[in-house]
Amino acid sequence: MTCAAAVQPTSFIRIPFDHWVLAAGDRFEDAAQCALPGDGVVPMRLHRAMRYAVLDGGKRVRPLLVYAAGEITHAEGEPLDRAALAVEFVHAYSLVHDDMPCMDNDVLRRGKPTVHIEFDEATAMLAGDALQAEAFKVIADGGLPASQTAALMRELAHASSTAGMCGGQAIDLDAVGTTPGIDQLERMHRMKTGALLKAAVLMGALSGHPAALTEATREALARYGEAVGLAFQVVDDLLDVEASTAELGKTAGKDAEHSKPTYVSLLGVQATRAWSLRLRAQALEAIDGLGPSAARLRELADFIVCRKS
Ligand code: IPE
Ligand code: IPE
Ligand code: MG
Ligand code: MG
Ligand code: MG
Repeated sequence: MTCAAAVQPTSFIRIPFDHWVLAAGDRFEDAAQCALPGDGVVPMRLHRAMRYAVLDGGKRVRPLLVYAAGEITHAEGEPLDRAALAVEFVHAYSLVHDDMPCMDNDVLRRGKPTVHIEFDEATAMLAGDALQAEAFKVIADGGLPASQTAALMRELAHASSTAGMCGGQAIDLDAVGTTPGIDQLERMHRMKTGALLKAAVLMGALSGHPAALTEATREALARYGEAVGLAFQVVDDLLDVEASTAELGKTAGKDAEHSKPTYVSLLGVQATRAWSLRLRAQALEAIDGLGPSAARLRELADFIVCRKS
């Protein structure tokens, strides 16, 4: 990855949060443009589908968490971009597969037709598979010391595994039409969504100076990541009933339509909103001791819980 834009630090000047979000989003977009295989390269249809799935869309919450957590360990430049790319590639792959007819059967994502609609099912399956491979390659090729590279890859693999996203997705599919207990629902949400957000936080911190990542700091970041990770899916459940298709860029109201158990179906809207606010408080409490370098993480906890899309 040699694009100049990919090595510009965005975090030294305390710009307002919304400006920082835009700058970090642009930084990520440039790095992704550069890192993804070109759509003129064979197999062109597959490369076009991968680029379609990743580029020009989404809130980029996971890259934002990577960049924000990187401030804790003074990470910057290409290693941080690579961690952001890796986690967003896995996320994009999970969305492509989540939308397929064999899973949630959705036709709209990020305001565009889903990948299997725009292309076809086989291409969607392969685009997801290939994005997962690219995610690990982008870290493997990053040139960090072997121990750091291995730690980053382990974090991402664990979050994507049967103990994380894939396992959570399997439980989600099994739960259709059932009424699980709240503990089971929480476990499913922590796995299918929370694990990757937690990994984004830890991977940002792991991309910096190892000496700055003490055991206590790592523990604080892990607790923060778990709280915002669960909060993210709790709010996703809420928005499915509260927001419109136009606001979400994906079809609203589909959880009830597909008989998915969610926080809203188990607890109702008000208790779900209250739970999301308690999780935000837990996230903020976890990083209370980290001082000014955790300022962006605090802002992101608010962003995740108060978002409207
Ligand atoms: C949607 O994730 C899927 C979940 C894990 C809840 P996002 O809401 O982060 O989707 P994008 O990346 O902004 O499109
Ligand atoms: C998706 O959860 C979680 C993953 C993609 C791992 P949802 O199925 O609720 O996500 P949306 O609502 O389709 O974005
Ligand atoms: Mg789903
Ligand atoms: Mg879905
Ligand atoms: Mg959802």
